[in-house]
Amino acid sequence: MITVRDPGALRQTTEPWRRAGERIAFVPTMGALHEGHLSLVRQARERAARVVASIFVNPTQFNQASDLERYPRTPERDAELLEREGCDLLFLPTADHLYPPGDATWVVPEGAAEGLEGEHRPGHFRGVATVVLKLFNLVRPDVAVLGEKDAQQLAVIRQMVRDLFVPVEIVAGATVREEDGLALSSRNVRLAPEERRASLVLSRALRVGAEAAAAAGAGGDAEAVRAAMGRALKAEPRARIDYAEVVDGRTFQPVETLTADVILPLAVRIGETRLIDNVRVALE
Ligand code: PAJ
Repeated sequence: MITVRDPGALRQTTEPWRRAGERIAFVPTMGALHEGHLSLVRQARERAARVVASIFVNPTQFNQASDLERYPRTPERDAELLEREGCDLLFLPTADHLYPPGDATWVVPEGAAEGLEGEHRPGHFRGVATVVLKLFNLVRPDVAVLGEKDAQQLAVIRQMVRDLFVPVEIVAGATVREEDGLALSSRNVRLAPEERRASLVLSRALRVGAEAAAAAGAGGDAEAVRAAMGRALKAEPRARIDYAEVVDGRTFQPVETLTADVILPLAVRIGETRLIDNVRVALE
């Protein structure tokens, strides 16, 4: 695996691949890699001759300085894991590479970026959309693999690619979970043992919500699903709910009546750690 820091070196490495007609698949990350990230690298591998991963803890998508400072960083281990998965190139830019002095252009997503994470983390999706477009323009992948774990982010990036005619295919990778149901996340390492136990309330609430949605069926009342998830979450005294919603799978806007494709996204704070998770439910 080749590791490059500056965009010039990235171009020099990828250009011969492109000239040789090799497809390039891309997995953007913020590092502290776990099985969830690695499952995306494997899916990238299956779809292209060349796999590029990036690690960049993007400052512009953090709305709290303390979250950015405390974000876990394990660069050597990450590089080893990527190498083992057969990643061809690791792009490790610095903030100056992606936001050089004088940088003054933003991608400001609306639509799917409104509400939920967009509301609780002002500016977050502006930072995400901007850095992802910069990375797409530098890596120029044929396909990019993103996780369903961050379902609203996935919807925002799909929307951006559609709206700005970005020539890349977006592929979604299923959420990888611990055996007990907790979705893998770089932030899970911050959970104290009793918080780790409490965190199971997220996957439990999603199960309850998915069952309630399936029982109601398409055309059913979304409020009943919200209420069922709310009750499940309130059973855990350590959990503070940011939201537990029912949204349309494509627009990510809350629905009153269940559509055939809904996502149940939730965000819960346990101690100092904020966790998000979701489940997609196809209804008849
Ligand atoms: P990060 O949180 O590092 O996640 C990188 C990718 O891994 C995202 O597409 C995310 O959805 C996916 N992912 C995280 N946990 C997962 C899990 N348990 N199962 C499957 N996939 C999982 O998301 C970001 O970084 C950033 O916002 C980024 C897109 C890189 C822009 O800075």
